Parts: sequence; structure tokens; C-alpha cells
Amino acid sequence: MKFATIGHLLNKENLKEFPKPWIQNNLVISPEMNINGTTGYITGLLLTAEEMMTLPREKVRQNILDAACFLQEKYDVELIQLGALTTSVTEGGKWVVEQKQYHGFTNHGDSYTAAITCQAVLRAVNLFHKKPAEQNLAIVGAYGVIGEAASKILVPQFARTMLIGRRAEKLSELEHHLKGEYETTIDLKTQKADIIVTATSHPTGLLASEHVKKNAMVVDVSQPPNMSYDLCRKRPDICRIDGGYVDFPKEHHLPIPGMPPGKLFACIVEVIMQAMENERKNHVGSIDLNHLKKTEQWGEKYGFTLNELTNFGKPLTQHIRS
Ligand SMILES: NC(=O)c1ccc[n+]([C@@H]2O[C@H](COP(=O)([O-])OP(=O)(O)OC[C@H]3O[C@@H](n4cnc5c(N)ncnc54)[C@H](OP(=O)(O)O)[C@@H]3O)[C@@H](O)[C@H]2O)c1
Repeated sequence: MKFATIGHLLNKENLKEFPKPWIQNNLVISPEMNINGTTGYITGLLLTAEEMMTLPREKVRQNILDAACFLQEKYDVELIQLGALTTSVTEGGKWVVEQKQYHGFTNHGDSYTAAITCQAVLRAVNLFHKKPAEQNLAIVGAYGVIGEAASKILVPQFARTMLIGRRAEKLSELEHHLKGEYETTIDLKTQKADIIVTATSHPTGLLASEHVKKNAMVVDVSQPPNMSYDLCRKRPDICRIDGGYVDFPKEHHLPIPGMPPGKLFACIVEVIMQAMENERKNHVGSIDLNHLKKTEQWGEKYGFTLNELTNFGKPLTQHIRS
């Protein structure tokens, strides 16, 4: 089953990083990739993260649908993955599945991303010789697709969790699914957290210095990142970790700006694994934790796993030495 990911530009500068022939039909389209016999494309809308979230939603959705139909018709794609904020503007992908023009399968790729996020959180805590049961956690974007699954998995393991979102009613709904010690808030109350997970659709940096306590860890899943490179430089005590990065064999280095060799976004890895498995299903909306576990098993089977933790692609040596 041929796959394609549909992402978007992080910012206008991004466009310069792609060869001109890759741009066609309002899309950046990579050459066909072949991963052990499974073929597909990495593609992206020519909209920036900011435009994805501020242009009229119908227009952005139409762009996504046009891309899916084009990839289906011209490239024989049968499985698309909704990258970055394309999930956020399509109700977790449910809107795409309802459209008649596109007949293929859709996956948001968030199941493996949530799994890898939880693995990264637990790996980071362990790396600093701490115990989750003695640590305070904060999850920003707690009722989002990734945030909800991460909350279900992580809240019971931590001493106390602050669950943060923008809508009180969605936070109340989330409470029905959780066990453990937690509070919910619509304010960005991350100051007491030893470890912060960000998984929001906020299209720029969200955390400021005053939001993060000394020596805290931040697992930043959001794309674009919610903890900026500038804040990392200003606050070297904070250990920022790229959330949702998976180790991917170097020979398959995929052409994504800023992605270090040997790494790939978990959402893209999920769709590659689904294509390898020829699993002809949609995975949209709220995450089924059984499917999440299955993606972890696929990861082990195909050797795409979380190995080294990084910050903007660089190993965490500075923090691990101190
Ligand atoms: N690293 C990877 O491999 C990878 C893979 C997939 C996705 N991602 C990234 O992960 C992030 C989350 O993706 P998703 O699919 O889970 O998105 P989602 O379902 O749209 O969830 C995002 C959540 O963020 C909340 N939010 C937005 N701005 C906020 C703010 N200022 N404060 C608190 N909450 C805020 C939204 O709340 P409302 O609904 O109330 O607006 C929404 O619930 C995105 O940035 C995406 O690009 C990364």
C-alpha cells in the first residue's frame, strides 16, 4: 500500500530548503521513497503553521482534501498521514474520512507519537535518576489527540499532574478517563512541574522563561516547537527534549528540513509501518490505546525505536554530564 504524509511549512523560510522541482500543485512532494519495498512520499502544503491556524478553516481543509485527492489520483496513494497541524484543523482527521472524493485510508500518526512521547518522558526521568512517583508532571494540550492518550498513560505514574488546555469543558470530559492525582486548569500553570509535556496546536513558542522552573525537563512534542531555541539558549538549566522523534536507519534519511540524519517524526514512522503491514484501516480522532500498543510492537518489529534523546537534534550531553 503506497503512503503519503501531508504536512505543511513551519514558516516561510522553510520553502527555500526544498528543490524547486519538488513543488507542484500547491504541494511540496518528495521523490518516491522506498523503505524496504514500501513506497511513498513526504509532502507538504505551502501554508505555514501560523496560516494553518489563522486562515478560514474551510479553506485550509479544502487544501488538505485537494492534496489527498491529487496524491490518490496522480501517485496511486492509498494511505495518507495527517502531519503536524493538519490533524488539528480536521477534528483529528475525522473530517477527512467523511469526504467522498478521497477513497483511501487516513491516519493521524498520533498513536505512535503518543507512545514515543510517553517513552521519552519515562526515559528522561530515569536518565536523571528520578522516580515518576516522586515527580510533578504538567501536560499542555491535555485533551488534544496526543495529550489525551499521554494523560491516560502518564497521570497514574506521576505524583501529581497539572493538565492544561484552553477549554474548561474539554478538561472536564478528560477527567472521566483518568486515574491518579491531577488538577486541571485553563492557565499555563507549569511552574511547579519537574517535567512538562507540550502537545499543542499553538503555532509558535508558548513557554516563556517564567513558566519553567529551574532544572525542569520539557518534552516538546509540538511542531512547531512550544519551547523555542532562544529559550533553550537563555535557560541552559532546562533540559528540552525533542518529543516524537524516532530513531530511523540513516540509509533512509528523509528530506525534512531540520530533521537530523537517523531521526524521523513518530507520526511519519507510524504510517510507514501501517503501509508495511498493509493494514487497511483509518486511525483518526481519539486514540485507541490498544492500537497505540500495536504501533509500539510494529516499532520493535521493524527496528524503528526511541534510542537517544535529543534537543533540536543534538544529544543531551550537556545535561547528562551535569
Ligand atoms: N513530533 C511528532 O512526531 C509529532 C507528531 C504528530 C503531531 N505533532 C505535533 O503535536 C502537537 C499536537 O498534535 P495533536 O494532533 O494532538 O493536536 P490536537 O489534537 O489539535 O491537540 C492540540 C491541543 O492543543 C490545545 N492548545 C492549543 N493552544 C493551546 C494553548 N495556548 N494552551 C493550551 N492548550 C492549547 C488545543 O486546544 P483547543 O482544542 O481548545 O484549541 C488542542 O486540544 C501539534 O503541534 C503537532 O504538530 C508532533
